[in-house]
Amino acid sequence: KTINVILTGGVGSRLWPLSRKSRPKQYLPIFEGETLFQKTSKRNAEFCDKVLVVGNCENYELSRKDLESAGISNYSEIIEACPRNTAAAIAFAAFAVAPEDILFVTPSDHLIESGSDYDKAIQRSIELASAGHIVTFGLKPKRPETGFGYIEADGENVKGFREKPNKETAEAFIKAGNFYWNSGMFCFQAGVFLEELQRFEPILFEKAKLAFDSSKDGFLDQELSLQIPSISVDYAVMEKTKKIKVVPSFFNWSDMGSFESIYDYYKKQGHAIDSKGNMVIGIEIYTEFLGLKNTLLIQTPDAILVLKKENAQDVKKVFEKLEKEK
Ligand code: GDD
Ligand code: MG
Repeated sequence: KTINVILTGGVGSRLWPLSRKSRPKQYLPIFEGETLFQKTSKRNAEFCDKVLVVGNCENYELSRKDLESAGISNYSEIIEACPRNTAAAIAFAAFAVAPEDILFVTPSDHLIESGSDYDKAIQRSIELASAGHIVTFGLKPKRPETGFGYIEADGENVKGFREKPNKETAEAFIKAGNFYWNSGMFCFQAGVFLEELQRFEPILFEKAKLAFDSSKDGFLDQELSLQIPSISVDYAVMEKTKKIKVVPSFFNWSDMGSFESIYDYYKKQGHAIDSKGNMVIGIEIYTEFLGLKNTLLIQTPDAILVLKKENAQDVKKVFEKLEKEK
């Protein structure tokens, strides 16, 4: 069986005030009326026999609603008591299925164009996973982004995986030419993943197993969960495993992480934008931007954010400040 594991733990702090703790970005119906979570589950339905959502207490109802409106009824859920990062989240999914089952692990917050390039990449990843490999998807890097993982490749063989390098290293990778961005999606057999996790992170493996084994109706216990080391799958497994492969991929992919990517997406969709590159997002009322360029006005019923496009990464700080003040 092939199972689409949808990871949905993030809050999308860089999209505040659109994104809130109570409605993280993957549940905002702002992509042609659909949410990124809905789009993810629909896009992958044709390759998978079922869906397994790894989420939390605050969002499982939002996930259910999205799955149902996407017409997907064959799903189950693992509900975390607290976020323990992606290595643990994927381990829970792997514990929940048979060792030979293929897990196609996807984030819930990316915008990806389905089509023949996507189909080809996923089909190839399932072939490689069936042969015992741990498969990543490599995308052509567009800039020396430091928030992504980089894959040094020779065809489908991986010479190295490096998560979140610093600026200089990222620049060197881009110059070298044989590096891809890691898409954040993975494909492997559950048993193969668990073997590698146990090899490289034995404590994480044990603690995650303990928490999973004592879970009730998919709900994990908080005390046991807090003992699990919080580390991402990229550092825990991908940087270390020799079973890694990469599928060079050509589909359109965008990590909808900040207002810069939302801006680019809206612009492409033909959303209103003035001659100086100013844009209103959210509740739209008549707005004039005087003496301003590349400025975004984000409007919701209870908050307004005005920012220069190049400050898109700083929104996280506002979110964090507000969380602290609560
Ligand atoms: N259930 C659950 N629990 N999900 C989680 C948790 C958790 O504790 N932590 C993160 N997630 C989910 C996020 O919601 C997201 O959908 C996905 O797992 C990836 O986590 P991010 O926190 O967004 O990772 P990242 O963006 O820093 O890096 C990953 O994605 C990049 C591409 O966007 C890495 O795989 C990079 O190598 C990759 O380039
Ligand atoms: Mg991300």
